[in-house]
Amino acid sequence: MNETEIALAREAIESGNFSVLMQEQERLADSSTIGLIAQSEICDLISEGLEPGGPTSWITSETTWNSATFGPDRELSLQQRFLHSLWQVFSLRIARKLEHLQSKVRISSKGAVICFPGGYDLSVLVSFSAANSLGSAYLRPLVSIREPTGMLDLERFLENSTPKEKNAIKAAVTSVDKLVYHRGALIHVDRQRENVFGPTVDTVVLSEILNSDLRKNNDKSTSVLEIGPGSGLITVTAALSPATARVVSVEINEDAANCTLKNLQVNGLKPSSNHVSVSVRAEKFEPKLIGETFDYVVCNPPYVPEADSLEKLGATGYGKAISGLELYDDILSNFGYLLNSGGKVLLMMSSVSSDYALSRIPKGHEREFPLGLNGYRVPFDLDLLWDRPEWKESLLQKGAIEQDATGNLFHRIIPVWVRHDAN
Ligand SMILES: C[S@@+](CC[C@H](N)C(=O)[O-])C[C@H]1O[C@@H](n2cnc3c(N)ncnc32)[C@H](O)[C@@H]1O
Repeated sequence: MNETEIALAREAIESGNFSVLMQEQERLADSSTIGLIAQSEICDLISEGLEPGGPTSWITSETTWNSATFGPDRELSLQQRFLHSLWQVFSLRIARKLEHLQSKVRISSKGAVICFPGGYDLSVLVSFSAANSLGSAYLRPLVSIREPTGMLDLERFLENSTPKEKNAIKAAVTSVDKLVYHRGALIHVDRQRENVFGPTVDTVVLSEILNSDLRKNNDKSTSVLEIGPGSGLITVTAALSPATARVVSVEINEDAANCTLKNLQVNGLKPSSNHVSVSVRAEKFEPKLIGETFDYVVCNPPYVPEADSLEKLGATGYGKAISGLELYDDILSNFGYLLNSGGKVLLMMSSVSSDYALSRIPKGHEREFPLGLNGYRVPFDLDLLWDRPEWKESLLQKGAIEQDATGNLFHRIIPVWVRHDAN
């Protein structure tokens, strides 16, 4: 979260004048917009004057999104006006991105975007219907939840929804168009035609951690290599970051490389945009053939230690996206070919393979766990587990996965930074 934005939000609430905050939000492509209210400081400041229920219900309250409730006969509190201003910036941004997407790709005229405003601790499902004659899409926040554990936490989304909202949520889940918004990037995956992994919550977590770190660089000349971009969310958000000058992505799955290219275009990024040059290479990652070094290497690698099951999953596409641990070795034993001096690697690990991944980090290299060693608990829903009960039992016994009372399984995703020790 951007400290300046929080300070501006505080001033805006204290003075009742939101224009400076809104201008700053409009200027920053990756501003937190409505996500600001999930920050405890801002949440505390505005809680007075709003219905109880906290950020998730404030976002979906009608005074936030429905301008028709603003009339001369209706007096709104400062807090309600504040929320409405944040929603306006947020919804306008998504509407513009959707219009741009619709000019490039055929998508359904009605659907929903799963948004992670400002971070992964708040998700909002925003429904849209096609652009009207004035050219603007009709947007509405349907539901929102704190600390989402799945891309669509369907059960939690449905919990307190009206029948009309339930229908809209179901339509969004079954739509061929998967749409995810994070840090100024709108990502589209055609679930029918594109055999591509993600975006998932892992992707958003990694993207958020990388981008928060990129924001600390003031020289605007940072370079990033992403290995296995899948649908392209991390590559696109890194390329949109004002800190970045160069982004390279290497993807073994041709469909995924094409999907990443599409999503770069959808977000207005050409191979050589104003501030950044981006290359997407559809090939297997070979450290020695990358040919340049980077300040950051990021990868959400396959982390299911079941290389022998590739056959079952299909040795390309989705199977290759989740299974086999070779990328840990390919990355962690080749820092010299990949990183600038002082550069660092951001890797996602899972509790099902973290012992292996950690053992591959060369001695003497500094490591840091941005979400702690226990990481973030998310559902582990691989059909593979049901076909291999003995594997499931061994993971449960080791404590690598957990099962809740209703039989749902969970693992922990554990992002790790590894710093290049150039000596
Ligand atoms: C778990 S998915 C992550 C995708 C995306 N980064 C995300 O977080 O949503 C792993 C990706 O790495 C790609 N991949 C796997 N092995 C690879 C290799 N040796 N070289 C390049 N890409 C690879 C897969 O095709 C897949 O797109």
